[in-house]
Parts: sequence; C-alpha cells; structure tokens
Amino acid sequence: MALLSMHGVSKRFGAVTALQGVDFTLEAGEVHALVGENGAGKSTLMKILAGVQPPDEGHMQLGGDDVRFSSVQEAQARGVVMVYQELALVPTLSVAENLFLGRLPRFVDYGALRTRARTLLAQVDLHLDPDTEVARLSIGERQLVEIARALAREGRVLILDEPTAALASTETDRLFEIITRVKASGVSVVYISHRLEEVFRIADRVTVLRDGALVGTRTVADTNAEQVIEMMVGSSVHRYERPARVRERVVGTFEVTERDLRPVRITLHAGEIVGLAGVIGSGRERVLPCAFGLRGSARWNDAAIGSPRDAIKAGIVLVPSDRKTQGLVVGLSVEANLSLATLGRLQRFGFMRAGAVRAQSRHWIERLSLRPPDPDKAVWELSGGNQQKVVIAKALATEPEVLLLDEPTRGVDVGARAELYDVIDDLSSRGLALLLSSSDTEELLGLSDRILVFREGRVTAELQPPYDYEEVVAHVTGAHQLA
Ligand SMILES: Nc1ncnc2c1ncn2[C@@H]1O[C@H](COP(=O)(O)OP(=O)(O)OP(=O)(O)O)[C@@H](O)[C@H]1O
Ligand SMILES: [Mg+2]
Repeated sequence: MALLSMHGVSKRFGAVTALQGVDFTLEAGEVHALVGENGAGKSTLMKILAGVQPPDEGHMQLGGDDVRFSSVQEAQARGVVMVYQELALVPTLSVAENLFLGRLPRFVDYGALRTRARTLLAQVDLHLDPDTEVARLSIGERQLVEIARALAREGRVLILDEPTAALASTETDRLFEIITRVKASGVSVVYISHRLEEVFRIADRVTVLRDGALVGTRTVADTNAEQVIEMMVGSSVHRYERPARVRERVVGTFEVTERDLRPVRITLHAGEIVGLAGVIGSGRERVLPCAFGLRGSARWNDAAIGSPRDAIKAGIVLVPSDRKTQGLVVGLSVEANLSLATLGRLQRFGFMRAGAVRAQSRHWIERLSLRPPDPDKAVWELSGGNQQKVVIAKALATEPEVLLLDEPTRGVDVGARAELYDVIDDLSSRGLALLLSSSDTEELLGLSDRILVFREGRVTAELQPPYDYEEVVAHVTGAHQLA
C-alpha cells in the first residue's frame, strides 16, 4: 500500500479552478516528480498536502489513516514538510534560529542549539557558522537551509517546489546527492520541476497535471521525455495566433549581459515581437531588467544603458512583471497613475494642466478598452487584466520605440488575457518593437515572430513560426538533450 494517497482533490480560488478531482500517490522511499506547465496546479496540490490550505473536496490517507490537515503544524506533526517555491526563511535571523524557528524551548541553551544546527547543516553538506545571518547567504545556501530545516522536523514526506530554479549547476548536483541520501533513509520526496532533464535524472515516477486536472502517472523507466511533454501539452491546443509579418526597418540592437547571463545580442525590427523563453534560472528572466538598465550591463545601438533614465531617453520602456510593487500606485486613480508617467509634459509652471491630463487618460482608456472606462476609478478596484492595461498605458505614454514586456499576463484571467493579446498585437502593427519575456508557452507561440530559448545562461535555440508546441517545450525544459 502507498505511504500516502490523495483522492479526488479539488480546489477553487474564486472563479479559478486550480484543481479538479486529482488523485496522487506516494510510495515510501520514492522520488515522485510533479510536472506541468505554469498554473497547472502543482503548488496548490502540494500546499494542500502540507496543510497550507484545505481542499474544497477530496480526501487523503497517510500511513493507512485518513488525515485532514488544517495547519502546517498538523502536517509537520505527521511528518509532511514542504520547502516552498517562494522561500520562507526569516532573513534577519541567524541560520540556527531559522532552523528551529517556532520550536525553541522557553530557555534556550545556545551552545546546544549551535551544535545541533551544525549536525543538521552537515546533512546537507553546508559547512557554515550557524550564527550567520540568513540575509548574507546565497539563494542556493538558503535553499539548503530550508531543506535542513525540513529534515530537522524528521519528515517522512519532503516536498520540494522547484528547488533548482535559483541554483547554479554545482549546487543542483549537491542537492541531488542529498535527495538520493534522504531517499535511501526511507523518506519520500515530491519533486516539482520545470526541468525534465532533472526529472529523468532523479525521479522514480512522474505525475503530470494540466489545467488543474490529472493527466497521468508514469514510472520514469517506462516513459520518455517526448511522452511526458505530450501529456503536459495535450492535443487540443487552442491558441491565439498572429498572422505572419514581414520584417521591415531595423530599430536597433541590444547587447545585454549579467553575472549569470552570457552576452546576448538581439536586433529588433519595427513591428516585431521577439519572444524570450526559458525556465526561471535559465537567464531569460534577466534579459529585460538588464535591457532597462536595472542591473547587469546593457548597450543599445552601441550606447551604454546604465539606468532606466538612459533607457527611457533611448525610447525603451519596461512593463515590469510585478505590477503591484513596481508598476502602479494602486490606491490612486487610473488618471493619477497615467499622469505620473508624463509629469513633465503635462505640467506648466508647476501646475498640472487638468484639461491635458483628462485628455490623456481618455485617450488611453479608449485605446486599450479599459473597463470600466472611468478615469477616476482607483486602480485596486480594477481586475488584474485591467490593472495591467494601466501599466502598459503608463509605459506607452512615454512614446517609446521599444516596449519590454515582462510576464504581461501573469495572474490575469483568460478573458482579459485575450484582450491584452489584442492590445499587444495592435501595438506591434503600429510599428512598436516588442521584447516579450514569458513563462507561458502558449502566449509566446501565439504572439512571437521568433522565439529565443534560454538555458543555463545563454541562448540555446532560435525558433521560427510555424512553431511546433512540443518542440518549444522540449527546448525549454532541456528534454531535447535527452533524446
Ligand atoms: N491563493 C491563490 N489565489 C488565487 N488563485 C490562485 C491561488 N493560488 C493559486 N491560484 C491559481 O491556481 C492555479 C494553479 O496555480 P499553482 O500555483 O498551483 O500552479 P503551478 O502548477 O504551481 O504553476 P507554476 O509552475 O507557475 O508554479 C493558477 O491559475 C493560479 O493562478
Ligand atoms: Mg508552482
């Protein structure tokens, strides 16, 4: 009998069905990979198992008993521990304090604590001073501290949610050694990853989710990357598709580089959308912040871009991935947000010209079909898709030649997504050049005139339409390496 089984698990978040009747089993001492495209429901399923959130429907059995966890502590008490995608250490505390967080006795013997911490850290091959503040560790080291913390809780089930996204390849090797060791001691590991090469290296079985539903579970030895990709992608792909374009005038050439990104050159043509594909950690996610002068180093037509100010002067503007913290002041109205972007132009002797401000907001509301079409509405009252339109409008108000779009539809529902695609298509047909960085494969295929695939800090493929969906996924996940 399986150590753990989940049956008919469903979970909704408002209008979004995150999981629908999913079954999942875990054997003692196995490494079970959980894969699927972004938003497939992987983290949600495992958060239910780890007691972070309850399911709407379904039941679980662990070691033969029916269980229902209403808190993380309850799950931990039964030996289920999870290392989250978004790391959960407290940066201002020491490594030792983090290891025993929430479990310190009233009178702490710091000497004993340090000794115990050293033993735990040694289990993950981490030889650092337990008094080190977590803020000073690399992401890879933090990941290992989290795993040590999970081991400290004597877990029987260890859930790792995309543990290698931020790791260098030597750190990944180390993690795999630890997983092998943990497994040998009888612990079961759930391994969520977007990298199929890793899945085939480390896992015994693999389960595929798609759009919140279970597609199937396979023994790794009896399947191959091609089959798994087919399961991830499905046969009925309905997607937005842009008509083919003719390349015209060259707008310019970017050269960007950063610590974990080899130098890349990208030449953009007027009206062209160049898609950037790659999992988090591939270097793909670094290109746009570099190109906008936020980090690394960038040149545009041989002139250095050292800051966002340089970029905007050169006609380059970024629509950031995190609109809540970087793009918008959500407490202010649509109009106030739009006028922040163009203060200089709409000001006269220090006073905002009210007429000009209103005219500008009307223009953008209409051009991007903002709903409701009300300039006085506070941004937080709008849906995610409409908030994103305001961010794009802000960017466009600076009249750029190049628009950098970073995950433009993250957290946006399906209907609003289609509208944003129309907006993006419309912008390109007016001659704007776009760089589109996205973890959504469908989105990249639907919008891009060509796609650059990033892996391990460099461009490993350039793909042209008509695209083969499975081929793109094979490049992104590193699966074509296995063939
Ligand atoms: N707390 C939440 N509130 C609202 N929607 C949520 C919440 N958590 C998840 N979702 C939605 O549920 C769906 C599944 O999300 P989940 O995070 O489980 O996907 P995932 O497979 O882990 O994706 P990724 O590979 O991007 O991490 C998505 O549509 C997501 O937007
Ligand atoms: Mg996830």
